[in-house]
Amino acid sequence: MVATDAGHEDRDLPSHNGQAHKYPAPPTPEQLGLTSGAPVGTRRSGAALPKLKKFRFELLAAWIGENFPPCRVADIGGGKGVLSYLLDRQGFESTVIDPAPQALPARYREPATGRQAKMPAGASVRHLTTPYSPDLGADFDLLIALHAHGVNQQVLDSAKAHGNSCVVMPCCVIGEPTTPPPGQEWFSWLADYGRGLGLAVGYFYLNFSGRNVGIYVHARPPGADSNERRQPG
Ligand SMILES: C[S@@+](CC[C@H](N)C(=O)[O-])C[C@H]1O[C@@H](n2cnc3c(N)ncnc32)[C@H](O)[C@@H]1O
Repeated sequence: MVATDAGHEDRDLPSHNGQAHKYPAPPTPEQLGLTSGAPVGTRRSGAALPKLKKFRFELLAAWIGENFPPCRVADIGGGKGVLSYLLDRQGFESTVIDPAPQALPARYREPATGRQAKMPAGASVRHLTTPYSPDLGADFDLLIALHAHGVNQQVLDSAKAHGNSCVVMPCCVIGEPTTPPPGQEWFSWLADYGRGLGLAVGYFYLNFSGRNVGIYVHARPPGADSNERRQPG
């Protein structure tokens, strides 16, 4: 278990190497206007809560499949690459960009059933073992940062520079070039950062426990302010 924010303990998130930080918890889906059933400012509890799952990769892969056409994906800070593995199976062409080389795990959850499955022998994902920088974003259509460290602002900068789509589920401020002032909550600060860049930021959430609210931006329509966008061919 790791403490990720003041007063908030989170069992799902990987270790943050003991780097403590104190920011208010992110907004709930209800506070972002994403679900009904609880007044803004309250949290549902007990039987009113949907059963939370721990399968963030599987849930995010399914959500992306429903909301984006198959395309070139950068899975930034993608760790072991399970999200990329699942996206590749859905027809995406996904590349993990993470300076830490990590092998696919031996097991994963089948999205359709939630059951554990063995990773097939020889399964692999593309992996760039380099820290992310916005210039890398030019080669991808969709940039994803799931609980990634130190790249959240850079992903939004890339979407601004190259006109890509992006999906960001932030967990913490570790490694970020700038951080919110004391007492200000990181998720909303980041969403405002994206809006400040002129991006049309939308919100979504997934049904897993932990940092489960996210930001998405759909690519600029072709021809719209496309000076810096790479032309096909
Ligand atoms: C908390 S882990 C999240 C891994 C995975 N996305 C998940 O949800 O389990 C953060 C990841 O960010 C990666 N990371 C750290 N600095 C990075 C950088 N500059 N560029 C890309 N990835 C980075 C770390 O190596 C690590 O794998």
